[in-house]
Amino acid sequence: MNSLINNLLNDSRIKIPKHIAIVCDGNGRWAKKKGLPRTFGHRAGTNPIEGITRDCSELGVEVLTFYVFSTENWSRSDEEVNFLMKLFVEFFIKLRNEVGENIRVKHIGITDNLSPELIDEIKNTENLTKNNSGMILNIALNYGSRSEITNAAKNLMHDIDVGNLNIDNVNEEVISNYMFTSGLPDVDLIIRTSGEMRISNFLLWQSAKAKLWFTNDFWPDFRYDHLQNAIKHYNETD
Ligand code: IPE
Ligand code: MG
Repeated sequence: MNSLINNLLNDSRIKIPKHIAIVCDGNGRWAKKKGLPRTFGHRAGTNPIEGITRDCSELGVEVLTFYVFSTENWSRSDEEVNFLMKLFVEFFIKLRNEVGENIRVKHIGITDNLSPELIDEIKNTENLTKNNSGMILNIALNYGSRSEITNAAKNLMHDIDVGNLNIDNVNEEVISNYMFTSGLPDVDLIIRTSGEMRISNFLLWQSAKAKLWFTNDFWPDFRYDHLQNAIKHYNETD
């Protein structure tokens, strides 16, 4: 185990968040700063995933969510979107081969407009890791919170309509179970890189009580140090 992680774990005052959600932002600016095309930034953005996943798992985080593509990101140039979609195919293959053995990978978001090849790799990765009992790794890809809530509302109304659910029994827990994150703990800590202080349609329902931590560093430069500082911030009382 990483000795730095031991430091955090050995500090009995430190509470580890159950669910950490990260908005991976700044790939384009990372590349621009180096005089490289944006696509290089996206490729570099896959680098921190494996290490941060392992670190979170060793720390005892129950759920880690990476926001890698929002429903709003389709408005980018065709060239960039096409590049990202191909990169995500490689990403899922790499993910299931490289993240710790006991990690369960789940996709949150909609599959509309994703290529059949990408949908296949997502499903393969979910299936191959579905019996793992360790940390859940959510990949928010083609995810948007309002679309998730709209979808949840429709499904809930349908269940009331057909008599599967009684309107008097609808409460917050029931609504939570209509989200993609059904059965998972709420988000305790949101991390966003690259100096942007926005929520960007990310886990609005699940983050009602979350603490936020921001860094000016770009996502491809994200390391354990950032994670440690974010967790320390989570522990600060205010
Ligand atoms: C985040 O980096 C990755 C995706 C949204 C796919 P950006 O592509 O948003 O990088 P910036 O914000 O333009 O630097
Ligand atoms: Mg951005």
